[in-house]
Amino acid sequence: MRAAVFERFGDPVEVLSVRDVPLPEPGPGQVRVRMIASPINPSDLLVVRGRYGVLPRLPATPGFEGVGIVDKAGPGLLGRWVEGKRVAAINSVGGNWAEYAVIPARQARPIPADIVDEQAATFFVNPATALAMVRHVLEVPKGEWLLQSAAGSTLGKMIIKLGRHDGFKTVNVVRRSEAKEELTRLGADAVINSSEGPIDEQVKRITGGDGVRYALDPIGGEAGTGVFRSLASEGRLVIYGSLSGEPIQIDPRHLISGRKVVEGFWLGHWMRDRSIPSALLLFREIASLIRQGVLSSHIGQSFDLDEIREAAHQADTTARGGKVLLKLLPEDASTASKGA
Ligand SMILES: NC(=O)c1ccc[n+]([C@@H]2O[C@H](COP(=O)([O-])OP(=O)(O)OC[C@H]3O[C@@H](n4cnc5c(N)ncnc54)[C@H](OP(=O)(O)O)[C@@H]3O)[C@@H](O)[C@H]2O)c1
Repeated sequence: MRAAVFERFGDPVEVLSVRDVPLPEPGPGQVRVRMIASPINPSDLLVVRGRYGVLPRLPATPGFEGVGIVDKAGPGLLGRWVEGKRVAAINSVGGNWAEYAVIPARQARPIPADIVDEQAATFFVNPATALAMVRHVLEVPKGEWLLQSAAGSTLGKMIIKLGRHDGFKTVNVVRRSEAKEELTRLGADAVINSSEGPIDEQVKRITGGDGVRYALDPIGGEAGTGVFRSLASEGRLVIYGSLSGEPIQIDPRHLISGRKVVEGFWLGHWMRDRSIPSALLLFREIASLIRQGVLSSHIGQSFDLDEIREAAHQADTTARGGKVLLKLLPEDASTASKGA
């Protein structure tokens, strides 16, 4: 089979290539998935750059999520149950940018037929993170302000739509003015540009009082520092990414006297603490909210596996207009898979 492979950490455009590699065989409790499509997420590119929290042994194939059809099951009941089904392939160790991937059977989630391949490919990482952070970690109450940076990201847009759906208000930080109109159309209550003045001053002008009680930041550096400074007394900031690669500056006096809380969130850890029934409930909630358009991803350009370097370049481009997808199955076979 063919797979995207890297032998050293570095710039994805330089180190990724497509190779013939042995077809993997599923072991006990595992299934093999014939991949249809997989998104290029920031976490995939961080792995290739060697800057993710957990790194694979090299050579490696990236890709934490995607959609495909289970073509072979290893020994075990669950694997046999999903054999032949179209599934969201949740690959916590990476390896989905390939024609076939082997994953634990419990991480192959059957996808309802009315959810198209593009949305099925992005079924898990961003939707589950948005729901987990907003409803389960911060538990943002109706009517409250939630501040978020990188609001024009795929995940940021989901949070704006969740705000509309759940009844909380969002104040959204972007770095390009062009993004403002789109986010307002999606339902953002306020959009500010980080290049138009200190984030905390802009936020406090909008929300009034001494700032916001709830905040999310996946950037770090100056933006993350501005988000922290926007917290009201007893405010809570969840950090879930490091897009700038820079640390956040926190004045201990603000943290102490204002009783503020700063914490990290990683979906992998959060899911490990879920019981099987609560994970099943989460998948049902995601499917329902994707159907309603709340947790659907805005999809941009698609690329064939052979175009892996162009795809990685596009995924890293500012204002690229939606999530970049890798197509891993020829068009005719992909059409036949719909409704599976
Ligand atoms: N912790 C977890 O478990 C978890 C799970 C899922 C996602 N995440 C994180 O969530 C974030 C968003 O993911 P996504 O898939 O939604 O991303 P995405 O669709 O690829 O969008 C990335 C966004 O970040 C903005 N951006 C990138 N670098 C930036 C910088 N240095 N300063 C300011 N803005 C910057 C881009 O702005 P432009 O539009 O201006 O280019 C773009 O809007 C990522 O950091 C990802 O790693 C974390």
